[in-house]
Amino acid sequence: MKVILFGATGMVGQGCLRECLLNASVESVLAVGRRPTGQRHAKLREIVHDNFLDYSAIESQLAGYDGCFFCLGVSSVGMSEERYRHLTYDITLAAATTLAKLNPGMVFIYVTGQGTDSTERGRLMWARVKGKTENDLLKLPFKAAYMFRPAGIQPLHGIRSRTAWVQAIYVAAAPVLSLLNRVAPKYMTTTEQVGRAMIRVARDGYPRPVLESEDINRF
Ligand SMILES: NC(=O)c1ccc[n+]([C@@H]2O[C@H](COP(=O)([O-])OP(=O)(O)OC[C@H]3O[C@@H](n4cnc5c(N)ncnc54)[C@H](OP(=O)(O)O)[C@@H]3O)[C@@H](O)[C@H]2O)c1
Repeated sequence: MKVILFGATGMVGQGCLRECLLNASVESVLAVGRRPTGQRHAKLREIVHDNFLDYSAIESQLAGYDGCFFCLGVSSVGMSEERYRHLTYDITLAAATTLAKLNPGMVFIYVTGQGTDSTERGRLMWARVKGKTENDLLKLPFKAAYMFRPAGIQPLHGIRSRTAWVQAIYVAAAPVLSLLNRVAPKYMTTTEQVGRAMIRVARDGYPRPVLESEDINRF
């Protein structure tokens, strides 16, 4: 598979990139981000892009791909609904709409989160916005789209969150998280498991469009 990766500099994206570079099912990775990953690999090519609502300047480089792993995303903590919607819904749908037009045979995988609200009407702002984002992604004319809803994700292999407070929690709780990952797969996964599951689902499909933590941990 030839895949495009958004958010490769983030915690989930770094995990996904690592698995893509190691996995023989992935022939090449195009990372699209606002800064370089700092990695070099024969399978990796990067585009540093500055307007995540408009891809017209790089459209010709975004065609001919089998999969997209969309790991770009932010925490809603301390953010207004308008700003969170812009960074979550607007950016994701702008990229996905462009990719669906250029790659009708593409499988699109979006990383959302446990508790995402598919009704778009619940009490939690972040869950409503993610729910609307998921729902509209599922309407686009991709070959298939899958929504990954991990709960906690333990970063492995030296991977770090871009969000300082998230990273601090993961460092402090590392021993407990390893244990939770073994005994409570409903609530905990790892960057390695998420990346590996993305590749398998893009390649082989999955019976349901929404994957919870336990589904992700099956691979
Ligand atoms: N971490 C978890 O435990 C966890 C659990 C469940 C779900 N998730 C979801 O997984 C997704 C990724 O989370 P993460 O933990 O990997 O986050 P992260 O470490 O903070 O990384 C965020 C990524 O998104 C990019 N990004 C953020 N704002 C951007 C913008 N305005 N324009 C372009 N790129 C932007 C960042 O690029 P820069 O490097 O340039 O900042 C980075 O690549 C999020 O949707 C999150 O809700 C995370």
